[in-house]
Amino acid sequence: MESIFQVLKKDHDLQREILNDLVDENLSAARRDELYERLRFEIKRHSKFEEKYFYRVLMKDERTRNHVRQCVSDHHVMTEILEDLDSLSRESNGWRMKVKTLRDIFSHHLDREEKSLFEKAKEVLDPAQMSQMANRFRFGSPNEIELFGLASFNIFGK
Ligand SMILES: [Fe+2]
Ligand SMILES: [Fe+2]
Repeated sequence: MESIFQVLKKDHDLQREILNDLVDENLSAARRDELYERLRFEIKRHSKFEEKYFYRVLMKDERTRNHVRQCVSDHHVMTEILEDLDSLSRESNGWRMKVKTLRDIFSHHLDREEKSLFEKAKEVLDPAQMSQMANRFRFGSPNEIELFGLASFNIFGK
């Protein structure tokens, strides 16, 4: 049975991979669009489910509360950058620079989660909670799956 930490880490690695591919200046427009749309979907789904099934429990414990607050604020910044990206032409220099900003902020956020929050969360959660959260995070509710159009994205086959 996988724990929430393993499930989140797998998502993070996929997101890192997409972002690293996306900053490649030699991408075709079609591949760039495909990667960006996948990334936007991944970030939105991941952040939403993370807040709902992982952070919510950790907010209740003083050992993790401040870490969670910082992570939620990172999520807000990332959402704003995605909105900026959506308002720019993908052919522009501004768009390409913003994608690099997103990659930097995002990498920092993933490190914050994996190095600080996960370590503290391991003190707070028991093994049953860790695997229960993993299931909730992975599958969400049927409504949520529909909402995020989960079935429609599979460009990496992962
Ligand atoms: Fe995460
Ligand atoms: Fe996050």
